[in-house]
Amino acid sequence: MLRVVQKLKCTPHKAALPLSGSGAYARTHMNHALSRFPVARPRRLRQSPALRRLVAETRLSADQLVLPLFVRPGRKLRRPVAAMPGVCQLSPDELLVEARQAFAAGVPAVLLFGIPDRKDPRASGAYAADGIVQQAVRLLKRELPELLVITDVCLCEYMSHGHCGIVKPVRGGGARIVNDPTLRLLARTAVSHAEAGADLVAPSDMMDGRVAAIRAALDRAGFTETPIMAYAAKYASAFYGPFREAAESAPRFGDRRSYQMAPPNAAEALREVALDLAEGADIVMVKPALAYLDIVYRVKAEFGYPTAAYAVSGEYSMIKAAAANGWLDERAVTLEALLALRRAGADILITYAAVDVARWLREEADGRLSSARS
Ligand code: PBG
Repeated sequence: MLRVVQKLKCTPHKAALPLSGSGAYARTHMNHALSRFPVARPRRLRQSPALRRLVAETRLSADQLVLPLFVRPGRKLRRPVAAMPGVCQLSPDELLVEARQAFAAGVPAVLLFGIPDRKDPRASGAYAADGIVQQAVRLLKRELPELLVITDVCLCEYMSHGHCGIVKPVRGGGARIVNDPTLRLLARTAVSHAEAGADLVAPSDMMDGRVAAIRAALDRAGFTETPIMAYAAKYASAFYGPFREAAESAPRFGDRRSYQMAPPNAAEALREVALDLAEGADIVMVKPALAYLDIVYRVKAEFGYPTAAYAVSGEYSMIKAAAANGWLDERAVTLEALLALRRAGADILITYAAVDVARWLREEADGRLSSARS
């Protein structure tokens, strides 16, 4: 080992290492006198919790968390989602209870999904003035004005066929999800959420041009200050499985691969993000999160905009299931996975575990304080 290091010393500027990156980092650091053993001992900075805390490059804070919540019509209703232990579909009164708890725990924002009583092929429940999300937003903003209320803008939960856009049959059989006519419905939905008092709107449909359509409609309606958090790089992912049970939004036929992104593509994600930003997105999102850390990293590095990562239902369920079997430490794994999103460059973390996470972070801080006092 020592010999290898010394050899590098003699040829510091030749890119002799088989690195596929630019190698700039390796060249500077390996050429530096302090970086050589036995002078260099990285373990020095790992000796104690306080030291490790001091040199931590990335931190998790409750300020970064967004809690997704599912609201459906009714009263005193908490319908558990089987595949997502701890997650329920909630009637508005129970939603308020849950949101209040989250806010008290230090979670600054919620992301609302609605499950309407009735669905149709025009998704009219999505933009109805008294739709379930609109009612929920009004209630939350009245009772908890400081809680940020973000609304998911999509049609799939309100469409009888479960797709995120308008479906047109094609000659000779089959059907297509048509792009441009869908934009009007999405824009209407976003405006109706803003009218109800939503602080931010978050389009998740992946139609082309939706951010521009939504921005224009919001501005026309006087909501020039309502930010758009765009699900910019949203992949057609099997990790959404449990969510479709939670939101009752599984497509009745086909799949979402004609509008959501293909998992092999990364450069395309950057183009999607560039488009959404050009169209007026204020925050861009990558979804799913843990299997797409390279995308999170590249989006943040390339554009530098506020970047959100959505730890989706499947990511949550995997940890819950393994923990229930005693195979994983739920708290440690959840925190580590979210920290990884931060390390990759995410500023905003959307997670079903937000309330637990906020509590765990508080407990850690309190634990340190009380051991300092005793
Ligand atoms: C709606 C939507 C989905 C998710 C967020 N918004 C499902 C989908 O695209 O099928 C997934 C969230 C999750 O899995 O946690 N379009």
